[in-house]
Amino acid sequence: MKITIFGTGYVGLVTGTCLADAGHEVLCMDVDENKIARLKDGEIPIFEPGLESMVKSNVAGGRLDFTTDPVAAVGFGQLQFIAVGTPPDEDGSADLQYVLSVADTIGRHMTDYKVIVDKSTVPVGTADRVSQTVAAALEGRGESIEFDVCSNPEFLKEGAAIKDFTHGARIIVGTESERVMRLMRECYAPYNRHHEKMMFMDVRAAELTKYAANAMLATKISFMNEIANLAERLGADVEQVRRGIGSDPRIGYSFIYPGCGYGGSCFPKDVQALAHTATEVDYQPELLNAVEAVNFRQKKTLYTKLAQAFDGDLKGRTIALWGLAFKPNTDDMRDAPSRTLMEALWEAGATVQAFDPEAMKECRRIYGERDDLVLVADRVQAVKGADALVICTEWKDFRIVDFDWLKRQLSTPVIVDGRNLFDPQAAKEAGLMYYGVGRGDSL
Ligand code: UGA
Repeated sequence: MKITIFGTGYVGLVTGTCLADAGHEVLCMDVDENKIARLKDGEIPIFEPGLESMVKSNVAGGRLDFTTDPVAAVGFGQLQFIAVGTPPDEDGSADLQYVLSVADTIGRHMTDYKVIVDKSTVPVGTADRVSQTVAAALEGRGESIEFDVCSNPEFLKEGAAIKDFTHGARIIVGTESERVMRLMRECYAPYNRHHEKMMFMDVRAAELTKYAANAMLATKISFMNEIANLAERLGADVEQVRRGIGSDPRIGYSFIYPGCGYGGSCFPKDVQALAHTATEVDYQPELLNAVEAVNFRQKKTLYTKLAQAFDGDLKGRTIALWGLAFKPNTDDMRDAPSRTLMEALWEAGATVQAFDPEAMKECRRIYGERDDLVLVADRVQAVKGADALVICTEWKDFRIVDFDWLKRQLSTPVIVDGRNLFDPQAAKEAGLMYYGVGRGDSL
């Protein structure tokens, strides 16, 4: 099939590349000329394991191409995926200007039947607005050409995007049209071979499914963080509680890891957007608001624990950070807990000495050159001469540590383990002052 993808961000690039890899002919369009030029050379703008080689091989194989030309893009695919960004507006609602601008572009240039596929995470009702926008653009040209709009939300995780796309749990398509069902089946056939993963439903149900899935996962995390905070005050170890409740198949082990709060480009934005949608239909989203509030508080706990360890005075201290990205295997720092911590430390007059295997460039891009931000080449240099160590991201490289060595590096042997990587007992036995998340008497 011939497929066009609008937007070469995470979702667009992974979708386009995986569909090309499955044998389709894919043209990805983006307004960013520099990005498209780099992609044509096989250079990808994001860090995602396995993606670069997949882009290169599909470009070389002639199945994947990139363009900035909207006319060529609209003319190319029978399926037109919209995978552009939906950044949050100031009130938390999703800003649809880019989605609707693509819809307008499609309406202006289409000359035959198209299926417009909403891939971006968009509020319930967006497919109707996309439809109206395309229809208005067609009317402006005095044309009446048939088209359909369907919702096909994406459930990929950064760092595991290719596997999530190619081996996802489900492929959801919101449409009532038999023709669209047939075309979407054909599109996903290469990834729907072993068992039936396609789920067809109403457009609005598909749109809400995406938000409900992310809100549910965010709820699990905030719930667990709340239990961790309680455990801390009650002298219990939340890691034991986690295993205890995870063993119940109704609860399950995934997404119940307590920590320093969820970040990234999805959970914070989607929980807020769904809460905003709720208020628009006169519903008070008590639970969603609480999930967000608990997370906001959780992101501050790294600083609170440090401040406690230093009797509230962090001025002139040097704090080592291991991990800047919002989670491992990505260079993404959007809404990362490390940012809340760094900003609080700077406010308190401390210096940050940080290392992350992938996000150093991103950190420099966000914060620029400043005296109180020292980015070092590895985890060993990060702790050299530092007063305390904070773990913000659970990268594999951080999991094994010689505590005796660590104690010798830190001038005040304080370790704040925002991801519960270490055994509190072992850390304490080595003479470290260990602060985990919800680890019994670690307060
Ligand atoms: C999330 C969802 O997991 C995907 O299914 C979804 O498609 C995606 O959002 C999206 O909407 O595009 P992602 O944001 O890439 O994916 O990352 P996750 O692995 O879900 O992690 C999100 C945050 O939750 C991270 O900050 C992570 O550290 C935190 N987390 C996760 C916890 O604190 N505890 C856990 O048990 C799990």
